[in-house]
Formats: sequence, C-alpha cells, structure tokens
Amino acid sequence: MKLAVCGGAGFIGSNFVRLRVRTSEDTIVVFDKLTYAGRRENLRDLEEDPRFSFVQGAIEDRAAVAAALAGVDAIVNFAAETHVDRSIAEPDAFVRTHALGTFVLLEAARERGLRYVQVSTDEVYGSIAEGSFSETSPLNPSSPYSATKAGADLLVGSYHETFGLETLICRGSNNYGPYQYPEKLIPLMVLNALAGDRLPVYGDGENVRNWLFVEDFAGAIARVLEDGVPGEVYNVGGPDECPNITVVRRILELCGRDESLIEYVTDRPGHDRRYSLGSEKVRALGWTPAMHFEEGLERTVAWYRENAWWWEPIRSGAYREYYERQYGRSLEH
Ligand code: NAD
Ligand code: TYD
Repeated sequence: MKLAVCGGAGFIGSNFVRLRVRTSEDTIVVFDKLTYAGRRENLRDLEEDPRFSFVQGAIEDRAAVAAALAGVDAIVNFAAETHVDRSIAEPDAFVRTHALGTFVLLEAARERGLRYVQVSTDEVYGSIAEGSFSETSPLNPSSPYSATKAGADLLVGSYHETFGLETLICRGSNNYGPYQYPEKLIPLMVLNALAGDRLPVYGDGENVRNWLFVEDFAGAIARVLEDGVPGEVYNVGGPDECPNITVVRRILELCGRDESLIEYVTDRPGHDRRYSLGSEKVRALGWTPAMHFEEGLERTVAWYRENAWWWEPIRSGAYREYYERQYGRSLEH
C-alpha cells in the first residue's frame, strides 16, 4: 500500500512512519508543513530508504495536497497544532489547520476514493473525575486545541455518513517517548532537569494524565488503518495513569536531581483535571499496549540523555523565545 502520512515529521507521525517501514511493505510519502514542531531530523534514519519520500506542504493547501497524493491508497492524518498552551496564546493556526486543513484532506480523499485515518485525542471528551470515556461519550472540549480537534472529528464523521468515505478516527491519550518536542510535560521536565533548571508545575500538580508510549499508539493506528471498520471511532488509552507531580518527581530521580528544582507556577486556564480512556474496542482488533509507564519513562529519559544532537538545536533556537513568553523567565543552560 502507498500511504500519505500528513504531519509525519512530528513526534507521533515520525514514530508511526518508522514502525511502518520496519513492519510493513508500505511505500510512504510524508507530507508536512514543517512548523516549529515538524523536523526532518525526526526522520533522519529513514532518509535513504527507497520506500520513503518527503514533500513539504500544508494540508490546507489544495494544490500541494493534490501533488503529494499521486498514486496513494490511504491517508493517515497526524498534521496538527498540538500544544494546549499555544492554543490559549495564539489559536489562529489551530483553527486553520484543524478545520480548513482537515476539510481539504477529506475532499482530496473523496475525489480519489481513499481510506482516511484521522489521528485525534482524548482531550475532545474533556475532563473526567472518575471512570473512563468510551467512544460514545459526548464531546466536551475545554481548550481551543481540543475544540478544533473535536470539530475536525465531526467533519470526518460527516464525510462517512454523507459521502460514504472510508473514514476512521483514532483518539489517543497522552503520548510520551523519543522525538517529542520539549514544550510538552515529559520532555520539558527531562531537559530542564538535565540542565539543572527549575521544573514549572502548573497548579497543585495533581492533574492526572493517562500515559501511552508513542510506539504503542503508532501500533494501534496501524491496526485501525488495516482492520478498523469504516465510520468508527477507536479510543487508545495508555495502561497507566499518573498525577503530574509524581511524573516530575520520578524524572528528577532518573536525572539524579533533587526536588528543590520543583517550582509551582500559575495554573493553565481551563486546565482539565483528569483524562482517562477505555480501549476495549481497539483491543478487540488485537491491539494491546506493550509498555508500562515506569519502564517507558526510564527509556524516554535515557533517549533524551543520549540524543543531545536532536534537542540542542531546539534549546538554542526560537524555542528560547517561546519559553520566555510561557514561563516569564529565560531558559538556563
Ligand atoms: P507534533 O506537534 O509533534 O507534530 C505535528 C506535525 O504536524 C508537525 O510535523 C507539523 O509540522 C505538522 N503540521 C502542523 N500543521 C500542519 C499543516 N497545516 N499542514 C501540514 N503539516 C502540519 O504533534 P504530535 O504530538 O506528533 O501529534 C500528532 C497528532 O496526534 C495530532 O493530531 C495530535 O492531535 C494527536 N495526538 C497527540 C497526542 C500527544 O500526546 N502528543 C495524544 C493524542 C493525539
Ligand atoms: P501537556 O504535555 O501540555 O499535555 P496536555 O495538556 O495536552 O495533557 O501537559 C501535561 C500535563 O502537565 C498537564 O496537566 C499540564 C501539565 N504541565 C505542567 O504542569 N507544566 C508544564 O510546564 C507543562 C508543559 C505541562
């Protein structure tokens, strides 16, 4: 099969492409705008592979999308703006990419009769105090990030109902692992801890996330791509839940730092307290998560320790300005 992987130069997309090259016969074209979060470095080990190619372009650009889809059988769409804090500061790109971009991809899939997988998030359901969300739980997003992702999901569903397009939606819980941009909790805390910088914890640190190792999410998306029933949504939750402060303490331990580096800072507006997904439906397709959080976190810290080539250019570039705006102080070294 020839796959177009939109947003494949980002964190989860690049891990998905790596998995597909290793475990399938697919030919893959990565189509990516290369925003601050999309980097060719994320795919460095695949550049020489004859089954891999890269096209730079935006999913909201019809002509660029049409050119990238030549000979393609299916689209997997990871392309998104993904950071909640950025969606609070500057929501424009979230609306453009999630609403307009998803629409352009769906139209292109409809014209060509392509199978279409939309990669989505547990955040579309909002926060849950107890229990877990299922695929039929109502959408109740809190942030411009999750609201625009929910809008995209609804549009995808409408293309199945109205036009009979073979659509599938995969909603994942919080991912972690190699190649994650250090604006997200785990890589940000790891790099700050390694540098001996303070670790900014929002609110009381008791917000709970349902952690999913990125290779497990990539595996679930592959299952859904191959065996999912068109028109269906599949929730993909990680095997473990953990409050942020426990995650941060464990990272400090793994980096050989003490808790004096923890700094409680002003809470994020509209901060969801807890996410939790039930994954029975995707498990029924034969998927199970292989990685528990304890081991996955150790592996992730080790990866960042060993791959400074990957993150050093980020920490010395435009990221410094983002960090200063977000945390009101400069990044230390
Ligand atoms: P990321 O920010 O690391 O990567 C996003 C990628 O999309 C980048 O390569 C970027 O250049 C590209 N992109 C952004 N706008 C684009 C546009 N208009 N056209 C083409 N490319 C564009 O994100 P990620 O963490 O890898 O997330 C990938 C997908 O998975 C997103 O749809 C996200 O909502 C979803 N998701 C993420 C998580 C998580 O914990 N990170 C959990 C569940 C679902
Ligand atoms: P994040 O990685 O941004 O993912 P999301 O908000 O999409 O779940 O944040 C994960 C949790 O960590 C969330 O509860 C917010 C919290 N957090 C902090 O406490 N400090 C930080 O600097 C960041 C980036 C996040």
